[in-house]
Amino acid sequence: MAVDPQVLAAIDGAVRADPANRALRLHLVDLLLDDGQHAAALGHCEVMLQQSADDADALGRKAQVLRQFGLPPAHPAATPPAAPPTPPPAPASPPREAVWTTTEDDDDVISTSDLVDIVRPELTLADVAGMEEVKERLRMGFLEPMRNEELRRSFGHALRSSLLLWGPPGCGKTFLAKSLAGELGLYFIHVGIADILDKWLGNSERNIKNVFDEARELRPTVLFIDELDALGHKRAQTSSYIRSIVNQLLLELDGAASDNEGLLVLGATNQVWDVDPALLRPGRFDRKVLVLPPDQPARHAILAHHLRHSPTDRLDLARIAARTDGYSGADLAGLCRRAVEFALHESVRRGSTQPVTQGHLDAALRDTQPSTGAWFSLAQNYVAFAENREEFSELEQYLHSRKKRR
Ligand SMILES: Nc1ncnc2c1ncn2[C@@H]1O[C@H](COP(=O)(O)OP(=O)(O)OP(=O)(O)O)[C@@H](O)[C@H]1O
Ligand SMILES: [Mg+2]
Repeated sequence: MAVDPQVLAAIDGAVRADPANRALRLHLVDLLLDDGQHAAALGHCEVMLQQSADDADALGRKAQVLRQFGLPPAHPAATPPAAPPTPPPAPASPPREAVWTTTEDDDDVISTSDLVDIVRPELTLADVAGMEEVKERLRMGFLEPMRNEELRRSFGHALRSSLLLWGPPGCGKTFLAKSLAGELGLYFIHVGIADILDKWLGNSERNIKNVFDEARELRPTVLFIDELDALGHKRAQTSSYIRSIVNQLLLELDGAASDNEGLLVLGATNQVWDVDPALLRPGRFDRKVLVLPPDQPARHAILAHHLRHSPTDRLDLARIAARTDGYSGADLAGLCRRAVEFALHESVRRGSTQPVTQGHLDAALRDTQPSTGAWFSLAQNYVAFAENREEFSELEQYLHSRKKRR
């Protein structure tokens, strides 16, 4: 039975926003099964089983699909290999090791309150495919000073820092932030601004305070604040409700009320031009890192990363990477999921496990469109009319090179 794609997309989005919500994920699994998206459903079962290995519902759904397709019981996924800077073509792998999942959610979920998700990420920067320049900047400007106490002391730095990741959707801001926490071996606390906004007077401020208190208790830790633009500058100027929330956030960031030693705050936004300038002042999110769509080597690495758990034929990923300019990491992950689905369907037709082939990838590519175009059209307007063009010079350069490539 086909399921309305909009309903599926909405529930998929809700699960991404609230990854530890088991009931919601189970609902998504059932919808995906109804829709015939067996590989995607299995992927979500794997995530549920990582969160709780004896989850009877997930085990039941997984067994049902495997039985239905006459596939052998799946083995647990091997530890993902570190992504090399220039990856070799994906090797042919034996079909019997199939686990049929393209998810990367290997995190250890610690606990979740209503407001935040707390995980101990297994991801490290090695799992972030490509993006060598961004990773190098994060290493030099963020990771090394965090790791090296002597260096920090000699420069009089406290162990507190904040950084804003910005750029088009799906290009890896959350993925990078998580991998930074994983790289440092710290907890990753994820909070979306929309989740802490409450219509009752004073509740949002209290929520912000609670989130920071919870984060301080777990220090040293990474606190990731997503959708910072939801407290947009224009809204903040006109609404005393938003202004008071921004003020609470500033108070917590400044550590005026409490000590923030050991608290690494990462922010993320798709719309940096909407972020309240007060949040961008020195000592707050004063360092910004632009996270752009992956370049060709990065796309190659992302494709290899997302197919690493699936049985594959000998694939020419370079050819797909060359034809996916403008695709986000999320678009490429979706393309891989689609190719795996094709392989699964073919397995069903033939009655034996079939690896993902170049043909499956080509078909998936025909089905997938890049999603970043709308963001760049919007960004172009902001850059053109920005008071301080300097601020957007990196984006401007990218826009220029993008135009030339088209
Ligand atoms: N460099 C990368 N290596 C491997 N996978 C990646 C990379 N970048 C993005 N992805 C894939 O794309 C997915 C989406 O990325 P992510 O959620 O981090 O994007 P985002 O920038 O936070 O998007 P949004 O603005 O919508 O929150 C990731 O879960 C991952 O599967
Ligand atoms: Mg994100």
